[in-house]
Amino acid sequence: MATSKRLQGQVAWISGATKGIGEGAACLFAEEGAAVAVIGRDEADGDRVLRAIRRRRGKAIFVRCEVTDEAAVRASVQQTVAAFGKLDILVNNAGIVDVQMLHEYSSEQWDRVMNINVKSMFFAFKHAFPHLRQQRRSYVVNVGSISSMVGQSMTPVYTTSKGAVLQLSKSIALDYARYGIRSNCVCPGITDTPMLRQHLNASGDPEGHLAARLNRVPMNVALTPRDVARSILYFACEDSAGITGTALTVDAGYLAAAEWDCSALPAPTP
Ligand SMILES: NC(=O)c1ccc[n+]([C@@H]2O[C@H](COP(=O)([O-])OP(=O)(O)OC[C@H]3O[C@@H](n4cnc5c(N)ncnc54)[C@H](O)[C@@H]3O)[C@@H](O)[C@H]2O)c1
Repeated sequence: MATSKRLQGQVAWISGATKGIGEGAACLFAEEGAAVAVIGRDEADGDRVLRAIRRRRGKAIFVRCEVTDEAAVRASVQQTVAAFGKLDILVNNAGIVDVQMLHEYSSEQWDRVMNINVKSMFFAFKHAFPHLRQQRRSYVVNVGSISSMVGQSMTPVYTTSKGAVLQLSKSIALDYARYGIRSNCVCPGITDTPMLRQHLNASGDPEGHLAARLNRVPMNVALTPRDVARSILYFACEDSAGITGTALTVDAGYLAAAEWDCSALPAPTP
């Protein structure tokens, strides 16, 4: 019987899948029929995601992995292949944001952000490649940000790292197309995840701060992890056939707006 599930028979490795956007992608991919390796640091969160997937009869394993540790990343890929027999889809989603002025950074702080947000993608691709190339078609989806496209205040290293994520996605697309690998970048705007909440909580007035930021967004909403997960899914299957080396901005219109305050735009006519 034909199945309408987009990822039936596929195996996916997703980093930072115990929370936020990565969790959204892990659950959506499992619903679409993929066997999912939930890659993350936190065992309790990993168990929670596994239970959610298995409740809906999905297939998943949790692999504890610090993505800046090359040996751990290599082992996580090996565990994925040992559990599910192959690897078709690599989703590099794990990331952190760090808020301060550039001159306040130590060398170690700079390296931490760049290592988690960018170098981890090199490790993951390097060790996934021998498996990805064995499939007729395989997929790399890297999670960038609107900061891959524009500068954002007070996050100089994050912004640098996300610019690099976009260029790395293009480089992989170019050099590995001959192996049947497509590589693309999903660039989210303001998304309601633990990362966003942590950032807002630091302001003392989380809801006020969020409302002020959303005034800059034409749709005036924060995205859900599921919204972003749908775009990751798009690049991880043949719905996006023929597309490689590109970026998809998922931002509720954020980057379309030159205005600083979209709430000041004319109200809809009755
Ligand atoms: N939330 C947003 O508004 C937003 C906007 C643009 C881009 N993004 C990007 O989306 C991605 C996911 O962000 P999120 O908002 O879901 O964040 P989150 O903090 O809610 O989740 C991030 C996940 O990555 C994991 N992670 C972080 N460092 C890790 C490490 N060293 N080793 C292993 N796992 C690690 C965390 O444990 C967590 O599971 C990130 O790359 C982020 O930069 C988020």
